[in-house]
Amino acid sequence: MPSGRLTGKVAVVTGGGSGIGLAIAKRFAEEGASVVIAGRDRDRLERGVAEIGHAARGVTTDVSRDGDVAALFAPLERVDILATCAGGAHFGAIDEVEPGTWRELFAGRFFGQMSACHQAVPKMPGGGVILLCSGVAGQAGLANYSGGSALCGAVNALGRALAVELGPRGIRVNVLSPGLIAGTAIKSNLAPNEQASFLSRTLERIPMHRPGKPGDIAEAAMFLVTCEYANGMVLDIDGGWTAG
Ligand SMILES: NC(=O)c1ccc[n+]([C@@H]2O[C@H](COP(=O)([O-])OP(=O)(O)OC[C@H]3O[C@@H](n4cnc5c(N)ncnc54)[C@H](OP(=O)(O)O)[C@@H]3O)[C@@H](O)[C@H]2O)c1
Repeated sequence: MPSGRLTGKVAVVTGGGSGIGLAIAKRFAEEGASVVIAGRDRDRLERGVAEIGHAARGVTTDVSRDGDVAALFAPLERVDILATCAGGAHFGAIDEVEPGTWRELFAGRFFGQMSACHQAVPKMPGGGVILLCSGVAGQAGLANYSGGSALCGAVNALGRALAVELGPRGIRVNVLSPGLIAGTAIKSNLAPNEQASFLSRTLERIPMHRPGKPGDIAEAAMFLVTCEYANGMVLDIDGGWTAG
């Protein structure tokens, strides 16, 4: 285990088998944290664990199932850092997407984050840090992404409420709000031609005209974890998208 700014800390990262979660888990491990990653696909988790190294562990977990989330936290004596990055995206017009799809999306990506907080907080008796994950769609209107936008807005509100609720207990809560980040999330249900058109329209709205990298979000995560006065923030890491 390397020594660094997170030496001796225990970090749980949901969605840590790929993309943003994996980059965050790697960054925490490089700084000395003992890292547990959670996701549904055993193979993806194993690849993630191998990439993180530093004795990281993977626990098969579907965060939409409260029992899975409870089992993820049960063996841990304490948790210092929780980053909830599990979730996906679903694109489509309001009158085309089946309502059940939004419920499924919220079950994992919203209630999964709440459920992880519910389990993690009792493991943080001496304080801790929680990083939720939303997205700029919580603040900037995005056509054909109404469910995801509503979800991101809900996560931002959750983060602020928990920051106020848990601050007196020494637990800081902040929200990572990524813009367009290279990875798999946008590919969820879009056909290749739709992905290309979504990308070009979105890149036009981003002053830097390029997507960010998962590592950019990991740097922001390190800032929020190590800055001891950061609480209740929703941090947009979006190349200036929401500034326009
Ligand atoms: N990439 C972007 O541009 C962007 C922008 C804004 C917000 N976000 C959000 O940031 C988060 C991470 O995005 P990403 O780009 O890193 O996507 P990603 O590479 O697809 O990673 C998502 C991870 O979450 C896991 N996951 C999904 N549903 C889960 C569930 N029910 N239980 C446990 N694990 C689950 C997936 O693993 P399994 O399938 O193995 O479970 C996967 O490892 C997502 O919530 C995404 O919507 C992404």
